[in-house]
Amino acid sequence: MTTSFSNPNAIILIGYMGCGKSTVGRMLAKTQNLLFEDLDDIIARDTSTSVPELFVEKGAKAFRELEHKTLKELLEVADCKVISLGGGAPCYYNNMALITAATPYVFYLNASHITLAQRLFPEKNGRPIIAHAETQEALQSFIAKHLFERQSFYRQATHIISVDNKLIEAVVEEIRKLI
Ligand code: S3P
Repeated sequence: MTTSFSNPNAIILIGYMGCGKSTVGRMLAKTQNLLFEDLDDIIARDTSTSVPELFVEKGAKAFRELEHKTLKELLEVADCKVISLGGGAPCYYNNMALITAATPYVFYLNASHITLAQRLFPEKNGRPIIAHAETQEALQSFIAKHLFERQSFYRQATHIISVDNKLIEAVVEEIRKLI
């Protein structure tokens, strides 16, 4: 039996905030000479509002609806490009089913809650979901739990790339060998 993908040349990067999706995606696209799209950037462009502002002003539910709609539209255009998704995108509606039906090149950039808390603590105020954490330890426990809840979605990716203690270049190279 052959499986047909709706967007077979797209490369999709998923994972928790701070795992490096956008940085890796940009570098990967540049090295492979492909277009790069970031779902959050498209939403911000379309609404002329930043994602944190949308979250605060319209609420999480409205943001997730918009995210779902924008993801569907993005995947409908079959193209050879690198797409980075916001950390929550795979976990709402049937988004992960849409993602895995689109392309066999779905990469979960897997970082530990320790790495993520270290990277995210200095910039937590610009990220509504984690802004409440008062210390790095509190952030680490929040992320551990949140990551656990999201793992079942993230782990549906075709490839799981561990990113702890790796340079961006090394992660890009690992992905390049798999595409
Ligand atoms: C979110 C992650 C963010 C952004 C929004 C919600 C999440 O994207 O979509 O703030 O639920 O994890 P990044 O993962 O690109 O930071």
